[in-house]
Amino acid sequence: MGAGPRPREVPLSEVIGALSYALDLTEGEPPGHAVRTCMIGMRIAQELGLGEAERTDLFYALLLKDAGCSANSARMAALFAVDDRHAKRSSKRVDWARSYTAFLWTLRTVAPGGSWRSRASQLMSIRQETEITRSLMRARCDRGAEIARLLGLGQGTADAIRGLDEHWDGHGQPEGQRGDEIPLGGRILCLAQTVEIFHAQRGLDAALHVAERRSGGWFDPKLVSLLKRTRADTAFWASLPAGELEPWEPQERRLTADEGYLDRIADAFAGVVDAKSPWTYRHSDRTCVIAMSIAALLGCDDRVLDDMRRAALLHDVGKLAISNQILDKPARLTDEEFAVVRRHPLHTAAILERTPGFAGLAPVAGAHHERLDGSGYPHGLDGGALSVPMRVLAVADVYEALTSARPYRPALGSAQALEVMRPDVPRRLDRDAYSALEAVLEERLPETPAAHAAVDDALRADAVIGRHIR
Ligand SMILES: [Fe+2]
Ligand SMILES: [Fe+2]
Repeated sequence: MGAGPRPREVPLSEVIGALSYALDLTEGEPPGHAVRTCMIGMRIAQELGLGEAERTDLFYALLLKDAGCSANSARMAALFAVDDRHAKRSSKRVDWARSYTAFLWTLRTVAPGGSWRSRASQLMSIRQETEITRSLMRARCDRGAEIARLLGLGQGTADAIRGLDEHWDGHGQPEGQRGDEIPLGGRILCLAQTVEIFHAQRGLDAALHVAERRSGGWFDPKLVSLLKRTRADTAFWASLPAGELEPWEPQERRLTADEGYLDRIADAFAGVVDAKSPWTYRHSDRTCVIAMSIAALLGCDDRVLDDMRRAALLHDVGKLAISNQILDKPARLTDEEFAVVRRHPLHTAAILERTPGFAGLAPVAGAHHERLDGSGYPHGLDGGALSVPMRVLAVADVYEALTSARPYRPALGSAQALEVMRPDVPRRLDRDAYSALEAVLEERLPETPAAHAAVDDALRADAVIGRHIR
């Protein structure tokens, strides 16, 4: 978090485009899926002759279509007893309207590797949840639309995201809307994302074949006809792997993100991360509040505090790449599973590095599991390489984790958490950051869960007022 000059504004399309790679991870899709879906959807919009305002709404809907995707990950992993990313990925390739195909998909997907008896009992529990697909999809679509609204994007963007999984024939989710009842943007999203998946995997002919086969079923037949007209545009289809978004954002209405808007984006994506698991539903948020309080007490200047805030909000964005089967496991992780967990700061750093406006946060956000004696991960950095913000974030992250419940233990109270951390000071955790945390908590050490919640709120209020205790 050096002190070089900051760009005052960055193109919003580049920020959201880069962060959409995090959404691809959660969906189990290959990197660039959302960006390529955006290009395909905008190419269809071009054929359709949509106006600038509608195209702007559509552009951001296509990029953010999976912003709600983390909201049903935990449920999906628990219900299907499977890696949620695998279930999500394969479910988009199956035609749910054909009940036999859907049955086969379910049978193949649930409890892979389990006995037929365990698969059957898992299937039974799914069948008992008659509303299950609907509620999974509703959570995803509503959450995605809400994030679009949080970002101040147009109503058209939110509506399109909400309509993502509706199908032309009325057999989609969550409302079962039919034909023109489905917002046009939603119809374009549904077609574009399916075409992208098949195009990336099997080429243009296969993608157009699937579009044709599901025309009038999943897809609006008019949009499928327009899509088919693009077959001859070989330059377009050849341009997809490069993932260049710039030509596709309406020229007249290019949106930019200033410092305040970058804060909103960090908030919104922290929400995506926290929605991934019921066990961490406020982790990024609370870690941010705690880190800000410590950093302010240590006398960090405004610039450092601003960066600290965003780095803390986004420090676990790489967790979107981890299956909920691991994140929510109610038992000790195997070595293999822990190896997966240890990679999440690398994903965090990689995502932030490629995001304009956030690239400078990558070193701090990516170092939150490093320890002063070199025993941390992913790089085993030692004290000489760990800056004050890195040390602060590490302390805040540990404290937040200890004071929140986990699948294998209840939440600790503040005093208990400090006690657990103390033996690691100063060998692994920074003494000054730890002392500052003690000082922050000193006046309001809670003795009961209710008091604990009150401290939470107080800390949050401190951090929100005037953007953290200046
Ligand atoms: Fe982490
Ligand atoms: Fe964390």
